[in-house]
Amino acid sequence: MKKALKITINVLVFLGLAWLLFGPAKQIGYAPEQPFAYNHKIHAGDYKIDCQYCHSTVTYSKKAGIPGTNVCMNCHSSGVLGFRPFANKSDGKRVQKLIGELSNNYWSKSKSPEWTRIHNMPDHVRFSHAPHVKALLKPGAETKTACIPCHGDVATMDVVAQQESLNMGFCVNCHRTPTDKGFVAEYAKNGVGTNCGMCHY
Ligand code: HEC
Ligand code: HEC
Ligand code: HEC
Ligand code: HEC
Ligand code: HEC
Repeated sequence: MKKALKITINVLVFLGLAWLLFGPAKQIGYAPEQPFAYNHKIHAGDYKIDCQYCHSTVTYSKKAGIPGTNVCMNCHSSGVLGFRPFANKSDGKRVQKLIGELSNNYWSKSKSPEWTRIHNMPDHVRFSHAPHVKALLKPGAETKTACIPCHGDVATMDVVAQQESLNMGFCVNCHRTPTDKGFVAEYAKNGVGTNCGMCHY
C-alpha cells in the first residue's frame, strides 16, 4: 500500500514536471487594457527614449520598476521648457487631450495610473533583472537589445503584450545554452546552471 502510494506520487511529480516543461505556453499575447493610453512605440520607438529612462532600476535591481507620473512630467509638464518643442510636434489636439487627462486625473492628485501587471512570476520563483540585463547588454548596444529575449521588441508595441511563455522550460532552455539567445560569450562553455535551488526558494 505504502509502496503503491510512493509510486503514484512519483508519477504525479513526473507528470507535473513534464507539463511544466512541455505543456502549453501560458500568457503569450496577454495585453490587458490599461487605465491610461501610454504608448511604448511613440516613446521608446519613434523618439528613442531609452528603456532605462523609465525602468531605471533594471540594470542593478531585481525589479525593472514602473515610472511614476513625476517621470512623465519631466517632459509633459508645461513648466519644462526643454522638452516642449519636441513634445508638441505631431497631432497636437490628441496629445493635448491625453496630457490634460494625465495632468488632471493623476499628476494634480499626486497619483499614478494603476497599471495592470503583464508579466508575473509565482512567489516560489527567484528572478532578478540585474544579472540578466548585465549579461545580455553588450558594450555600446541599445538597452532594449537586452530585453528582447524575454519581452520581444517593446519599442514597436502600441500596447505591451507578453511575447514569451516565461515558463520553466523557457528559463531552463536559455540557462542550458545561453549563447543561442545572444548572451555574452563568457557563458558559452558551461551554461548558467539549472539547479532547482537556483530558481526556487
Ligand atoms: C517614458 C517611459 C517609458 C519608457 C521609455 C519605456 N517604458 Fe516600459 N513601461 C512604462 C510604463 C508607464 C509601463 C506601464 C504601462 C504599460 O504596461 O504599458 C511600462 C511597462 C513595460 C512593460 C510591462 C511591465 C509589466 O507589467 O509586466 C515592459 C516589459 C516594458 N515596459 C519594457 C520596456 C522596454 C523594453 C523599453 C525600452 C525599449 C521601455 N519599456 C521603455 C514606461 C516606459
Ligand atoms: C523624455 C520625454 C518623455 C517622457 C519622460 C514621457 N513622454 Fe510622453 N511623449 C513624449 C514625446 C516626445 C511625445 C510625442 C508628442 C508628439 O507627438 O507631439 C509624447 C507623447 C505622449 C502622449 C500622446 C500619445 C499619443 O497617443 O498621441 C501621451 C499620452 C504621453 N506621451 C504620455 C506619457 C506618459 C504617461 C509618460 C510617463 C509614463 C510619458 N509620456 C513620459 C515625451 C516624453
Ligand atoms: C531573462 C528574462 C528577462 C529579461 C532579459 C528582461 N526581463 Fe523584464 N521581466 C521578466 C520577468 C520574468 C518579469 C516578471 C518578474 C516578476 O514577476 O517578478 C519581468 C517584469 C518586467 C517589468 C514589470 C515590472 C517589474 O520590475 O517586475 C518590467 C517593466 C520589465 N520587466 C522591463 C524589462 C526591461 C526594460 C528589460 C531590458 C532592459 C527587461 N525587462 C529584461 C523577464 C525578463
Ligand atoms: C535568454 C537567456 C536567459 C533566460 C531566458 C533566463 N535566464 Fe536566468 N540567467 C541567464 C544568464 C546568462 C545568467 C547568468 C548571469 C550572471 O550571473 O552573470 C542567469 C542567471 C540566473 C539566476 C542566478 C542569478 C541570480 O539572480 O541570482 C537566476 C536565479 C535566474 N537566472 C533565473 C531565471 C528565471 C526564473 C528565468 C525565467 C523567468 C530565467 N532565469 C530566464 C540567462 C537567462
Ligand atoms: C532557470 C530557472 C528554473 C530552474 C533551474 C528550475 N525551475 Fe522550476 N520553475 C521555474 C519557473 C519560472 C516556474 C514558474 C512557471 C510558470 O509559472 O509557468 C517554475 C515552476 C516550478 C514548479 C511548479 C510549481 C507550481 O506553480 O505549481 C515546480 C514543481 C518546479 N518548478 C520544480 C522545479 C524542480 C524540481 C527543479 C529542478 C529539477 C526546477 N523547478 C528548476 C524556473 C526554474
